[in-house]
Amino acid sequence: MGSIKILGLSGNVKQPSRTASVVRSVVAAIEQHFSVEGRVIELVDAAPILFRALRADQLDHAGRAIVDAVEAADILVVGSPVYRASYTGALKHLFDLVDFRALSGKRVVLAATGGTPLHGLMTEHQLRPLFGFFNALTVPTAIYATESDFTGHALTSAAVTQRIERAVAELIQLIPNTDAGGRNAQTSHHPETV
Ligand SMILES: Cc1cc2nc3c(=O)[nH]c(=O)nc-3n(C[C@H](O)[C@H](O)[C@H](O)COP(=O)(O)O)c2cc1C
Repeated sequence: MGSIKILGLSGNVKQPSRTASVVRSVVAAIEQHFSVEGRVIELVDAAPILFRALRADQLDHAGRAIVDAVEAADILVVGSPVYRASYTGALKHLFDLVDFRALSGKRVVLAATGGTPLHGLMTEHQLRPLFGFFNALTVPTAIYATESDFTGHALTSAAVTQRIERAVAELIQLIPNTDAGGRNAQTSHHPETV
């Protein structure tokens, strides 16, 4: 038994990033609940490593470590900027390298940022089906933010923060074997026992 592993993945391909700010806010809220430290991987850092491989069997040590971190996580927070009405190709490439069995039963919080509210359903139409493929459990509330929700690249919207709190509350309901999702939850790393 080890402590629960929380991993944020942000599909941004530039820095600073509004998406990374949202993903870090969600991870921070989950960390606070479980009193464990999570980790955030930004695709701006990971993609140049991952694109050295077109298939999982071509991953080098650094690429394998990134994919291993995804496969070993108990809770994933996955966010992306909307690019061309979908998540970024860099994020898709990462998930193309993840073993199709590795995320089964894992809990996933979805988030996105975009230039227009009109693309707010990207989380539902693009991201959620990706995790349906993986047989993962996505929390019902997804988080979406646009430019006016930020000061610079820092998330400052009370409404978006409230959605994060709602998503995290739902996530906790999806975590069995805790004191109703209480603090200091311990779990094995097997996805079915999260
Ligand atoms: C190549 C590209 C494509 C984009 N396509 C869309 C889009 O289809 N819909 C949308 O709402 N915003 C679109 N945007 C705007 C970004 O989603 C938005 O600025 C986002 O918050 C950037 O996130 P970041 O700060 O994490 O990079 C696009 C931006 C770029 C650079």
